[in-house]
Amino acid sequence: MKRAIYPGTFDPITYGHLDIIERSSRIFDELIVGILVNNSKQPLFSVSEREEMIKEAVAHMNNVKVMSFHGLLVDFARAQDASFLVRGLRAVTDFEYELQMTQTNKVIASDIDTIFLTTSLKYSYLSSSMVRELASFGADISRFVPENVTRKIKDKYKVEN
Ligand code: COA
Repeated sequence: MKRAIYPGTFDPITYGHLDIIERSSRIFDELIVGILVNNSKQPLFSVSEREEMIKEAVAHMNNVKVMSFHGLLVDFARAQDASFLVRGLRAVTDFEYELQMTQTNKVIASDIDTIFLTTSLKYSYLSSSMVRELASFGADISRFVPENVTRKIKDKYKVEN
């Protein structure tokens, strides 16, 4: 069984992330979306809120699970018996950071490989912080995130439409 982890902060999940999830769910037998519990970031959404939003957004994909994790990604991957990590590359600017992270992971866990998917052109400019900023000013974010996320962000910022 080929199991992979798609890790990230997902604050919140966007259509760009979902594009990567859908495509990698077709490559692997099982995909685990791993939400990093990162104490150094001040997220808009709690881990359980993010977990719930992602679960709703991936409910139509039978081989996708959603979990959160602390600590090292490769330890989480090993604990889940996953030999692959998936990362999306949006633009060349992502590459340097991703390469460094992948090489570090490879040095500390040579049994785990990272697979890169290029984010679809349609979403190559998208980021969670951009979505948060637009929403904070009351802009329409419905073309960037699933409907359940749009609703949750509106609640957070108390934006009325
Ligand atoms: N579509 C839309 N946005 C995307 C995207 C896509 N396909 N891919 C990345 N992004 C955006 C995210 O929205 C996020 O935007 P933001 O910064 O505006 O919020 C940004 O790119 C980076 O996000 P993410 O993919 O969540 O990466 P990250 O840097 O927050 O987390 C981890 C990366 C979780 C993989 C990494 O920090 C990790 O493994 N941590 C665990 C500790 C560890 O093992 N460290 C050793 C690794 S060297």
